[in-house]
Amino acid sequence: MNLPQASSASPAAPATVPTPLVRPRLTFIGTGYLGATYAICFAELGYEVLGVDVDAQKIASLASGRVPIHEPGLDEILRRNVAAGRLRFTTDYAEAAEFGDVHFICVGTPQRADGLGADLTYVEAAVTSLVPHLSRKALIVGKSTVPVGTAAWVEQLVGKHVPTGVEVEVAWSPEFLQEGFAVEDVLRPNRLVFGVRSAWAHQMLLAAHKGVFDLATTEDREVPVVISDFATAELVKHAANAFLATKISFINAMAEICEASGADVSQLARAIGYDDRIGKKFLRAGVGFGGACLPKDIRAFQARAQEIGAGEALRFLHEVDLINQRRRTRVVQLAADLLDRPYGPAGPDLTGFRIAVLGATFKPATDDVRDSPALAITRKLARHGAQVALYDPKGMANAQREQPDLEYADSMVDAVTDADLVCVLTAWEEFRYADPKALAGVARGLRVIDGLNCLDQPLWTAAGWEYRGMGRPNPA
Ligand code: UGA
Repeated sequence: MNLPQASSASPAAPATVPTPLVRPRLTFIGTGYLGATYAICFAELGYEVLGVDVDAQKIASLASGRVPIHEPGLDEILRRNVAAGRLRFTTDYAEAAEFGDVHFICVGTPQRADGLGADLTYVEAAVTSLVPHLSRKALIVGKSTVPVGTAAWVEQLVGKHVPTGVEVEVAWSPEFLQEGFAVEDVLRPNRLVFGVRSAWAHQMLLAAHKGVFDLATTEDREVPVVISDFATAELVKHAANAFLATKISFINAMAEICEASGADVSQLARAIGYDDRIGKKFLRAGVGFGGACLPKDIRAFQARAQEIGAGEALRFLHEVDLINQRRRTRVVQLAADLLDRPYGPAGPDLTGFRIAVLGATFKPATDDVRDSPALAITRKLARHGAQVALYDPKGMANAQREQPDLEYADSMVDAVTDADLVCVLTAWEEFRYADPKALAGVARGLRVIDGLNCLDQPLWTAAGWEYRGMGRPNPA
């Protein structure tokens, strides 16, 4: 893909304020999912970019043209831009300070070990490591997902650590990329949000995104920009993820109602989704949401609301979380039911059964297993005594690192061989389009749990499998 280079000042810039820099040099601090993708894609948009991380191994890997995560399309763009000399990586903050005009903070904000809130240690470390080295005017832009109030706190941190006589401003611009679609989401965002306090910061952000606007213009698209204060920009991200999580838990709550009443949640979701006000996206019932974002963000959002005296407003998010967790237990209930084992107060005893789990990642098209429903369910099944064989097309290495004690199979067929039960827990195409007849030839018991309602149920039933979906009646 050849993209136009960032060039003259953005047409969207207010005419009264002179553009400070036509094409600022950008650093992306933290080269995890977010920072690596942004650094690589902004180099592709024509910027000179420096990726910064304290993890020397990650930096060495990126510098040699290898993306340490699985994200479709990213490897090729990395190699092209490293070769073109637009993209470099470093562990040296002094180099970053010398190089950059706009510094994007992209470090992780995981759930705190001692509570539901976000751990801001990495944000603090990034800011306090960079700022003392700055020697000319610069803009620090927060991209990490943070609790409301963080940008103002970062401003104070900057004030404390900035060398005398150097002016440094702060802005906040949340990101909305989805794993598996990250390259598209960065190059062609559906909106940009700029939380700014000055016209200069606004101008710099426009200049730092000129490549995004230019690409949109060549494709006859528009990229809406919402300019706001700090607090609103921070809240946009938590609000968006809370809404998405709520939508998923809503349909999973409907799945519970369907299970109790004999209705089919897939048909129900289709029928309500035709209403544009509801929309059909994010209405797929199944094992619930996972990943590094939705679960931790709804918890951090609640914790922060509590701190600022608005806890009641988000009490429903606790329910959203509980509905989500119940879906994981539901798979164990279905397993007990299919294997004809009683479900006592401590759950079922699944000793003596071999269960094939297909899927470890939290969704397809990624190798990410963080807070993965598939992996959590696998752990539960193993804890209840089952001998579990796990297979995933891309997530094996990460799953093995996180759960070294599980048994891993080399292929889908290996996992299913001699299994009494098959659980499809990530909707990879390899599983969705697997041949149920061929798998029936190697399994010991023809029982399948479709954790994402992603299999062709009549096909599996016709091949002799006893099928259980999520929120769906058992086939006759
Ligand atoms: C999510 C948001 O979608 C992004 O907009 C956001 O930028 C990102 O978090 C973030 O905060 O950085 P992501 O975690 O990559 O992106 O994954 P999603 O595609 O949102 O899926 C989250 C989970 O919900 C997955 O486990 C998925 O299987 C599940 N899901 C999704 C459902 O169970 N049902 C659905 O209908 C949709």
